Amino acid sequence: MVVMETDAVSLTAVTKSFGAVRAVDGLTLTIPRGSTVALLGPNGAGKSTTIGMLLGLIPPDSGKAALFGLDPGQAVRRGLAGAMPQEGGLIPRVTIGELLTFLAGTYPAPLPLDQVLALAQMTGLRNRRVDKLSGGQAQRVRFAMALIGDPGLIVLDEPTAALDVEARREFWNGMRTLAGRGKTILFSTHHLGEADEQADRFVVIDRGRVVADGTSTEIKKIVALTTVSVTAPAEVGWLGDLPGVRRMEVRGDRAHLRSADPDATVMALAEAGAVRNLEVAPAGLEDAFVALTSKETV
Ligand SMILES: Nc1ncnc2c1ncn2[C@@H]1O[C@H](COP(=O)(O)OP(=O)(O)OP(=O)(O)O)[C@@H](O)[C@H]1O
Ligand SMILES: [Mg+2]
Repeated sequence: MVVMETDAVSLTAVTKSFGAVRAVDGLTLTIPRGSTVALLGPNGAGKSTTIGMLLGLIPPDSGKAALFGLDPGQAVRRGLAGAMPQEGGLIPRVTIGELLTFLAGTYPAPLPLDQVLALAQMTGLRNRRVDKLSGGQAQRVRFAMALIGDPGLIVLDEPTAALDVEARREFWNGMRTLAGRGKTILFSTHHLGEADEQADRFVVIDRGRVVADGTSTEIKKIVALTTVSVTAPAEVGWLGDLPGVRRMEVRGDRAHLRSADPDATVMALAEAGAVRNLEVAPAGLEDAFVALTSKETV
């Protein structure tokens, strides 16, 4: 077997274009084993293309992808990486139990069926036909398909998109069990709150490039600027030069200062006698995300 000392995921300057569209543009990403990483980015940012390349489904135009130091296709065939297809992949007319048993037979060291069914919250659905499932149930079957080979790396492209609130909660319980067993998990999502709760690390991509990479706190700190606003004084130009202020905007009779250091900004406003109808609004991951991926720079 492979010596498991290497990183779970290693993408080095991978690039992929579809015609004139550069979906992934020189992206480098390393994920050591054992972490849970959220891949975030607006529609069309290149998340699915990145995932396709790291699973060996899409050949990069240039750069290199490796899983556990192996060629991605090889790693997937050995059961080292399990992926959840975004849609499709279900053979009609077989039961969930039959489908998973068949798949288990294709891996060297699969998980027992009962365990997979429990992790995917499907214990009662074993004999249900896969073409008679609701969207949320089908999604759980795909999740089970990702787990059956007992992979060290689990890659999920928008795994909770079709799940209701309760199913989503159960899904993440299953994921936390797996993370607790030392599995590496990479998932994409548009639910920032969910990402904030589940992931150790956030990789934000936009236009095919990594635009931020860190913990939730780090990402909020880098870009989530607090908004400090006051009634605009007669002369506003100097406000932009106050400590901490990255951007200044006047709307109506208010001056809005986006500040990386709101304490210092407010203090300086006070010293200048400009504190009038002061408002301070903190920013969250949502703001950070918008700031990172909007066209304007912060
Ligand atoms: N097979 C394809 N053929 C042509 N263009 C494609 C193909 N796959 C992706 N693209 C384009 O590449 C870009 C990145 O797409 P990708 O699916 O990777 O984005 P994404 O971040 O997963 O978006 P979403 O959040 O909507 O799922 C988009 O502009 C998309 O239109
Ligand atoms: Mg996608």
